[in-house]
Amino acid sequence: MAQLVGLIVSNDDGFKKHVERLLRSGAIPVSVMDDRAARDGAPPDLVIVDTRGDVSSAMPGIERLRASAPGAGIFAIALEADPDVILQSMRAGANEFFTWPPDEETFHGAVRRTAARRETSQGARPSATTLVFFGAKGGAGTTTVAVNSGVEVARLSKRSTIIIDLKPGLGEVALFLGVRPRYSILDAIDNLHRLDKEFLRELVVKHKSGLEILSGSDQFDRPGAPDGGALEELFRLLARQYEYIVIDAGSQINSCTVAALYTADQMFLIANPDVPSIRNAQRLLERVRQLGACGERVRVVLNRAAEPYPIPPKQIEAALGHPIHQTFPSDYKTVSTALNSGVPLALTGNSDIASQFDVFTRKILDPAAESPQAANAKASRLQRIASIW
Ligand SMILES: Nc1ncnc2c1ncn2[C@@H]1O[C@H](COP(=O)(O)OP(=O)(O)OP(=O)(O)O)[C@@H](O)[C@H]1O
Ligand SMILES: [Mg+2]
Repeated sequence: MAQLVGLIVSNDDGFKKHVERLLRSGAIPVSVMDDRAARDGAPPDLVIVDTRGDVSSAMPGIERLRASAPGAGIFAIALEADPDVILQSMRAGANEFFTWPPDEETFHGAVRRTAARRETSQGARPSATTLVFFGAKGGAGTTTVAVNSGVEVARLSKRSTIIIDLKPGLGEVALFLGVRPRYSILDAIDNLHRLDKEFLRELVVKHKSGLEILSGSDQFDRPGAPDGGALEELFRLLARQYEYIVIDAGSQINSCTVAALYTADQMFLIANPDVPSIRNAQRLLERVRQLGACGERVRVVLNRAAEPYPIPPKQIEAALGHPIHQTFPSDYKTVSTALNSGVPLALTGNSDIASQFDVFTRKILDPAAESPQAANAKASRLQRIASIW
């Protein structure tokens, strides 16, 4: 799915907040750049211009934006649907026109059109797919699932893939993969201005599967709250260099994980089939909804699932209002042997858990390839959930 970079042009903070929430809540992930990033970086894909004040001064602004970002979708927002203003905006280079406040459905439709146009336009950069793994609680197996999925995505797709460890204070991604990094995510966010292909090559470590690793920080208080904006910019820069971005976001909601959730094409919520996990997962899903990050992108993953389930899967689906996307069995011996040898599960040979990673990864690489039976089963499961709800 396309990931767009949006810019909001307005002097009104209320307008900016409202439009930012709208952009964040659609099915297509949009990362919102600030004015500084707009001046220094690549042009945005989408610009929302506040023309509610002085219309005559807003039009030259739209013309300048059109000249500097010829491929961008420009949305003009005015107080009234005055035919003269609509015509002037279109002549200046706007693609869409809305009255304030924009109708959400119509606005999201325009974002979808912009994404589709960008995908088909000549010379469009390949859009990265960002996969964020988030734990319903500590120890649920988030790093295990993220690392093994990263390896499988890199191995099966043969496309450029990077895994990023967001956990402050010695994240385990590099350890699980048996590599020794010299640099960490902090070196990336502290040097965003020089983060080109060459510099990035210095910062990452390459695993034999092809997966590149931007390892976790060795400081206990970073990345922290003040790093959220820099992380969002890092994800934008990485999206220009990689086709798949895998993020181990840990299990705490803070500005860093929120930056990751906003950029996600798919968010995998890793839960165990037990009461604390499901209770926390409910709360996290509620928080994701409050943050405006679109719930359609959430996939529930049940890890360490073994009979007898403390809570049956159907009850879990009903409690969460989401179908279970994937189940990984509990297999401590295989997981811990792989972990202690630094060899990912996918490369250790035959086991049920290794083949489940294969199934899971193929769904990521080709979401449309889901079998009709599986799609039907999912639809009827969703209907059941809806009726329980
Ligand atoms: N499917 C599984 N079966 C058995 N053991 C598992 C499974 N998945 C993970 N584990 C084990 O659970 C432990 C925690 O796994 P992991 O470090 O991936 O969790 P986490 O959610 O990332 O933890 P943290 O909150 O500390 O980051 C590890 O010892 C791992 O080997
Ligand atoms: Mg972890």
